[in-house]
Amino acid sequence: MKISIFGTGYVGLVTGACLADTGHDVLCMDVDQGKIERLRNGQIPIYEPGLEPIVKHNAEAGRLKFTTDTAEAVAHGVLQFIAVGTPPDEDGSADLQYVLAVAKAIGQHMEDYKVVVDKSTVPVGTADKVRDVVRAQLDHRGLELEFDVVSNPEFLKEGAAVNDFMKPDRIIVGTNSDRAEEVLREVYYPFNRSHDRMIFMDIRSAELTKYAANAMLATKISFMNEVSNLAERLGADVEAVRRGIGSDPRIGYHFIYPGCGYGGSCFPKDVQALARTAYDCGYESKLLNAVEAVNYAQKHVLFDKVSHYFQDDLANKTVALWGLSFKPNTDDMREAPARTLMESLWAAGAKVQAFDPEAMEETQRIYGDRDDLQLCGTKEQALRGADVLVICTEWKEFRSPDFAAIARALKEPVVFDGRNMYEPQMLDRHGLLYYAIGRGRNQ
Ligand code: UGA
Repeated sequence: MKISIFGTGYVGLVTGACLADTGHDVLCMDVDQGKIERLRNGQIPIYEPGLEPIVKHNAEAGRLKFTTDTAEAVAHGVLQFIAVGTPPDEDGSADLQYVLAVAKAIGQHMEDYKVVVDKSTVPVGTADKVRDVVRAQLDHRGLELEFDVVSNPEFLKEGAAVNDFMKPDRIIVGTNSDRAEEVLREVYYPFNRSHDRMIFMDIRSAELTKYAANAMLATKISFMNEVSNLAERLGADVEAVRRGIGSDPRIGYHFIYPGCGYGGSCFPKDVQALARTAYDCGYESKLLNAVEAVNYAQKHVLFDKVSHYFQDDLANKTVALWGLSFKPNTDDMREAPARTLMESLWAAGAKVQAFDPEAMEETQRIYGDRDDLQLCGTKEQALRGADVLVICTEWKEFRSPDFAAIARALKEPVVFDGRNMYEPQMLDRHGLLYYAIGRGRNQ
């Protein structure tokens, strides 16, 4: 099938590459000339495992093309995926200007039936707005062309996006049109063969499903973080509690890992946007507001522990920091807990020596050169001359470090672990003081 994708960000590029990989004829459009040039030369703007080979392979095979020409993109596909950004407005609601600009372009250039697919995470009611914008353009041109607007939210996890797309748990499609349903069934057929993963519903329910899924996951995390704070005050170990409650299949083991807070481009933004949507329709979501507030506080927990350890005097202290991205297997630092920590440390007069397996360039891009930040080539280098070590991201290569070497390298043998990566006894054996999240008293 011929497919056009607007936006070559994370969602658009993964969607385009994976659809092309099953034989579809995909044209990706972006207004960023430089990005399109780089993609044409096989350069992938984001780090996502498995993405580069399929982009290259399908581009070489001629099934995945890139353009900055809107009219060409509208003409190309019967399917028009909108996968542009929806950054949060100041009040937390999603900014739809880019989505509606694409809708306008589709209305301006379309000459035959199109299925317009909202792939970006957009508030409930957006499909109606997209439809109105396309229709207004057609009216303006005096045309009565048929089109459908469909909601088809993505559920990709950064770091596992290609796999999530190729083997989806579910494919949610919100539509009121049989014709659009047939087109969507055909496009997703390659991903739906072994058993039916497609769930069709009305458009608004599909739009809400996306937010409800992310808000539910964020709620689980904030809940566990709250339990971890309780555990510290009660002298209990949240890791034991996690295993204890996870064994109940109604609760499950997923997404109940306590830590230094959730980050990324989705949970923080989506929880806020859903709370805002609730507010806009006259409903105050106490739960969503609490999920957000708990996460905000949790992102400060590591700093509080470090500061408390040094009796609130961090001037001239140097903190080794392992892990900068908001989670492993990505270089994405949006809303990353490491940023909250670094910024608090700097404000308190401390220096940071940081290492991350992928996010060094991104850190440099965000913070530039500054005296109180040293970007180190290895995790060992980050330790050299530092007072203490803090871990913000549970990268695999941090799982079994040389604890004895850590103890030797640090001025004070103390590890603050924001991801509960280790068993306290292990560090104890090496003479390291260990402060993790929710693991008993004195934490
Ligand atoms: C999330 C969802 O998991 C995807 O299903 C969804 O499609 C995506 O948002 C989106 O809306 O696009 P993502 O933001 O890539 O995916 O990352 P997650 O793996 O969900 O992790 C989010 C944050 O929660 C990370 O900072 C992670 O460290 C934290 N987390 C996760 C915890 O603190 N504890 C847990 O138990 C799990």
